[in-house]
Amino acid sequence: MINIALDGPAGSGKSTVAKILSKELDILYLDTGAMYRACGLKCVKMGVSVKDEIAVSAFINDINLKIEYKNGAQVTILDDEDVSTAIRRPEVSMLASDVSALKCVRLKMVEMQRKIAEALDCVLDGRDIGSFVLPNAKYKYFVTADSKVRAERRYKELIERGTPVEFDALHEEIKQRDYNDSHRDFAPLKQAEDAVVVDTSNMSIEEVVNFILTDVRSR
Ligand code: DC
Repeated sequence: MINIALDGPAGSGKSTVAKILSKELDILYLDTGAMYRACGLKCVKMGVSVKDEIAVSAFINDINLKIEYKNGAQVTILDDEDVSTAIRRPEVSMLASDVSALKCVRLKMVEMQRKIAEALDCVLDGRDIGSFVLPNAKYKYFVTADSKVRAERRYKELIERGTPVEFDALHEEIKQRDYNDSHRDFAPLKQAEDAVVVDTSNMSIEEVVNFILTDVRSR
């Protein structure tokens, strides 16, 4: 089984790189952030705070969340509704970060992720894939970049998608999420000891993809 773990902070470029890698290697791409985003949306639907562990633990084990693939692209389905676009709304990012700090949420999502990774060759992008979800994965990369560069990338992406935001606020949000994601108690954003670090601050997507592909093919 080929499992490639791509971890790193928001805006490091890992999802773009993961998508290209999965096509080049003809394996599945699993965006684990989408799953936490869907959990954030579910809390909104239930009228529950994303920080309320007791309320969230009452429904998380029965969450009706499915990850499907259409023409090679991941489709996230929550309560039989395609939420792939809704989960990308900027306000959902922070909800995902907060809800993902709850242990009950992580245990459930990690169980789903492990099942997928056991059954299929895939590249997974997330925060804790190499350090917690798949500690035995053969290929692990920690993809990072300076927070300002990451904010600039997200800014461009949101403008292209027609959802303009204020740059400074976005930069602050990215820094806040970095802090949140790396300081939670359970399975935080962490570089696995055996991960290869790729600092993409001064690298193009193509350079990052080539670097990882060369490394994967050489082993
Ligand atoms: O990768 P993303 O920005 O879509 O992720 C949204 C949030 O989900 C992120 O701030 C932290 C959380 N997350 C996580 O805790 N573990 C993962 N494997 C993936 C995402």
